[in-house]
Amino acid sequence: MSKDAALAETQSLLAALQSLDLSDNTQRVALLRQTNRIRAALETPLELASRWMETVAAAGALQLLIRIGVFDRLPADGTPISAAELAQQAGVDASVVTRCMRILVAQGLVEEMKGDVYKRNGLSDFFKSDKLGAMMCTGFMFARIWAMFPDYVKTHTPEDLWDVTKSPFVWTIGQEGKSFYEVLDTCLDPVQRSLFDLTMTNVEGMYPTRDMFPFREMKGQVELEPERPFVVDVGGGRGQVLKVIREEAGEIKGGRYILQDLPIVIESLKGEDLGEGIEVIAYDFFAEQPVKNAHIYFFRMILHGFNDAMSVQILKNTVSAMGPDSRLIVCEKLVPDMVPVGGSTELYWLDMLMMSVGGKERTVADFQRVFDHAGLELVGVYRSKTSQAAMLEGRLKRVA
Ligand SMILES: C[S@@+](CC[C@H](N)C(=O)[O-])C[C@H]1O[C@@H](n2cnc3c(N)ncnc32)[C@H](O)[C@@H]1O
Repeated sequence: MSKDAALAETQSLLAALQSLDLSDNTQRVALLRQTNRIRAALETPLELASRWMETVAAAGALQLLIRIGVFDRLPADGTPISAAELAQQAGVDASVVTRCMRILVAQGLVEEMKGDVYKRNGLSDFFKSDKLGAMMCTGFMFARIWAMFPDYVKTHTPEDLWDVTKSPFVWTIGQEGKSFYEVLDTCLDPVQRSLFDLTMTNVEGMYPTRDMFPFREMKGQVELEPERPFVVDVGGGRGQVLKVIREEAGEIKGGRYILQDLPIVIESLKGEDLGEGIEVIAYDFFAEQPVKNAHIYFFRMILHGFNDAMSVQILKNTVSAMGPDSRLIVCEKLVPDMVPVGGSTELYWLDMLMMSVGGKERTVADFQRVFDHAGLELVGVYRSKTSQAAMLEGRLKRVA
């Protein structure tokens, strides 16, 4: 603990706050980091440990209330509702609601009007089950896996960690022999898959698509060759990224956008309005890419779920469909060479999720090797200014 360090940080924070432009995300995030440093200067190790436990418990409380429908039943118009009423509707003991609510009230997520009577507040809405609540439930699915890590490493070889059919996730669920997605789609409560897909539609802030690759600059080329698809989003989920890319690219006459994912995801899109210009194709990226000679093949948050050999295979299946000037773009977060103290930690907890399923987050050098083995040359790295995400552009290797 150091009062001087806290004072110095606070003074510089005050000065920075005076000139803060709230619409400037980089500035705002830098200030948040500064408040962390002030806290770090004042917090005891026991308080730090307790805060971590609190975070885990809050996530557990929220996922429980969401999964039994309690959190979403807080009346939308702000009418207060009692723990007893919520518990009765959910068919659980009232203490389940009061005990979980305490930690969420303390975190400011719900308002307590009087003892055990609650009201939704502005923050509650962001954490409903179709918004960030989906992410908490998906993330918490992994808490069970992390709790079993010590037993996993005791019972498995170091190589097993890289085998998606022997990963900590599938082992803990009792489904060795299947991959994470096979378990998600065939062994778990189907609600987990829809929460997973919803999570992906809500991570744009953490995983931005904007302001990296200059999609807009391709207008001329795409309009000259309208028969060629513009962007094929491989493993694109519910089209969340493709919609943003279409906005980023602006008006392009004849620009075709193709969304590919597993049949279970594509079928769940029936009737959903993806907007003009987006075609959908059920496709398994372990098979040959059926769409040939597109301008761009795009993969966001795909390779981090797989080991190097599988990532090379996934890319090779599309490399064989690329034309001489097709681009293959991978969008992932980049592991830095050294971990900055007090910096963003999203990447590292995501990597813990990936460790659970046999994948990993990568450095630029790691991606360069994967590209190389897949027959691609890494020709550009477009980094986000507001996060650790980047778009890596690959082109077919030129034959000498
Ligand atoms: C982590 S999510 C990323 C979704 C989207 N690209 C995004 O960034 O929001 C991975 C996606 O890959 C899809 N996927 C997993 N295995 C696949 C396979 N073998 N073939 C095609 N898509 C697959 C999943 O269904 C899921 O939508």
